[in-house]
Amino acid sequence: MFLTDEEKRILDGAEGAGKQKAMEMLYALGVTFDAEKLIPIKRAHVALSGQEGDTYWCELLVDGGATCAVPPTTNPYWDTDYLTKFYDVTKEELDLANRTGEAYRKIGAILTYHCAPGVCSNVPFLGEHIAFSESSATPYVNGALGARSNRESSISALAAAVVGKTPYYGYHIDENRHGDILIEVDAELNECYDWGILGHCIGEMAGSLDPVLVFKNKVRPSQEDFLYFGAEAATSGAVAMYHMVGITPEAPTLEAAFGGKKIPAPAALITNKTLRDQETKLTAATGDINLVMLGCPHYTYSQILEIERLFAGRKVSHNTAFWILAESGAVELAERSRLRQKLELLGVRMVGNTCIDEPCWKSFEGSLGVTDSPKCAYYRERRGQPFAIRRLSECVEAAIKGRLD
Ligand code: F3S
Repeated sequence: MFLTDEEKRILDGAEGAGKQKAMEMLYALGVTFDAEKLIPIKRAHVALSGQEGDTYWCELLVDGGATCAVPPTTNPYWDTDYLTKFYDVTKEELDLANRTGEAYRKIGAILTYHCAPGVCSNVPFLGEHIAFSESSATPYVNGALGARSNRESSISALAAAVVGKTPYYGYHIDENRHGDILIEVDAELNECYDWGILGHCIGEMAGSLDPVLVFKNKVRPSQEDFLYFGAEAATSGAVAMYHMVGITPEAPTLEAAFGGKKIPAPAALITNKTLRDQETKLTAATGDINLVMLGCPHYTYSQILEIERLFAGRKVSHNTAFWILAESGAVELAERSRLRQKLELLGVRMVGNTCIDEPCWKSFEGSLGVTDSPKCAYYRERRGQPFAIRRLSECVEAAIKGRLD
């Protein structure tokens, strides 16, 4: 891979051991993927997770004197002040969370603690070269916005933020952004839950290929719909780029979506039955519940408002906790408008800065939870809590009864 004299100096350690480590990472990545050179990035997002490996990497760079040339926004970990009022964590878990926050503060990250940066906290433009980690963020910025990011890890995204560059390969190059398979959709998509189930089907079919979707019915997805679609396509598969013909910016036509390549025959037709079958496969569990967990990816203010409408003044059952994880700006708006206080009187709590996959939720493990997000269920089940997946209105009814029928 070609390096400029300036880049070689950094690789040789002339700008400190931390920046040298970051450049070593980018160089290794570039050589692995046959990148021809490094290119400057405009933005970065780091999926800081509060897990030991990610924090170790950030501390290693900080100890070597590195700071970010392009300050990245960050994923959530967990709200150590608020959630410790409700749930026990060990000293080690709390120490790791505090160490993580401190390391990213020192390296100069923008501590947004938000996992849907493309929606509001770090929104790239069409064609911008960026380095975003977080599996649900990457398909959103590539597919829905037309920005250019590889499916970065937190390690490579932080290295790119420190150096201000990323290797030129993969989704930074025009021809790698074109579609690989064609999927037709003839189904009703009424809310973001339906888009999530569609994304889950697409991820299974596409794996790591770039799907092109053609809709038989006229659809106009909202930002939450795009977000849920991409989050699930990156959970059941490894989709980081997609096209929706006539909807997403790089697919004004079917021909454009495939970049002039031969258009393949449709690999599948997704109907209402396909979506319901997928739902049945994912949502079998019923019984008493102890938790409704929403906001994976983080809820927006409009989604919080919808919860108030669905409760219609009714209350959460005494044996169930109801948590909304949201972008901290949405929580602040809910506080200002008194929506937060109204929902708390019904037993609905919300928290910013927090991911579903953190140790603060472990007291629920062992009993059944309910969520509207297959991604949430996937991660929580790995930690020992079975989850059922239902559309939002059914999550609310289950919370009121304390039971899922
Ligand atoms: Fe966000 Fe954590 Fe889900 S980062 S998308 S709440 S797994």
